[in-house]
Amino acid sequence: MQQKIRILGISGSTRSASLNTKLLHALSKLAPSNVEIEVLEGLEKLPFYNEDFEGENLPGSVAELRQKVGAADGIIISSPEYNYSFSALTKNTIDWLSRPYSKGVLSDMPVAITGASPGVLGTVRSQNQLRQVLHATNSKVLSRPEVYVGGAHAKFDEDGAFADEAGRDMLIQLIDNLVTLIEQTRENLPSELAS
Ligand SMILES: Cc1cc2nc3c(=O)[nH]c(=O)nc-3n(C[C@H](O)[C@H](O)[C@H](O)COP(=O)(O)O)c2cc1C
Repeated sequence: MQQKIRILGISGSTRSASLNTKLLHALSKLAPSNVEIEVLEGLEKLPFYNEDFEGENLPGSVAELRQKVGAADGIIISSPEYNYSFSALTKNTIDWLSRPYSKGVLSDMPVAITGASPGVLGTVRSQNQLRQVLHATNSKVLSRPEVYVGGAHAKFDEDGAFADEAGRDMLIQLIDNLVTLIEQTRENLPSELAS
């Protein structure tokens, strides 16, 4: 029997009509039956990162998030691009998950990156910055495919499914490659898929 793979989706936007959250839900619909993608909720309730809150002062919301992410097999981050970078919500979430230093739950975690924007560049600039940050967290970041969802406001149907055929193939490839990276991580093999 194939082992179940549990992936968590982190959206960098909590806007009710967020294209990035929509993209993660569309990805979960494209996943094969042995892969579950759950989109995390409530990230806006995390306090701003503050080292004073580490240790016995750790907020329950952070402890819960760390526990949940630590139990996952992989992560997909889809963040909006704000002023050429990824959102503050994305950064705050990563900062909480990056600690304690070198022992944070993102260390060695397989991570795929994507992002959606109504503009033509589809978060190219912010995804590059996100890769750099995930290098600091020692995550295993999937290098290919790079999926920049431009013109995203026109790419979902009324049920929220991803309606653009070429883009859909890339999203399926993103999941496939992340699953391969997860399996290689489980077997502790060096991977050519990660940067
Ligand atoms: C403060 C702000 C800055 C933005 N900067 C960019 C940008 O640099 N590049 C871009 O493609 N879109 C930019 N946008 C437009 C966002 O891509 C768009 O609002 C997108 O829908 C936000 O993601 P969401 O739908 O997941 O909430 C910006 C929007 C806001 C509110």
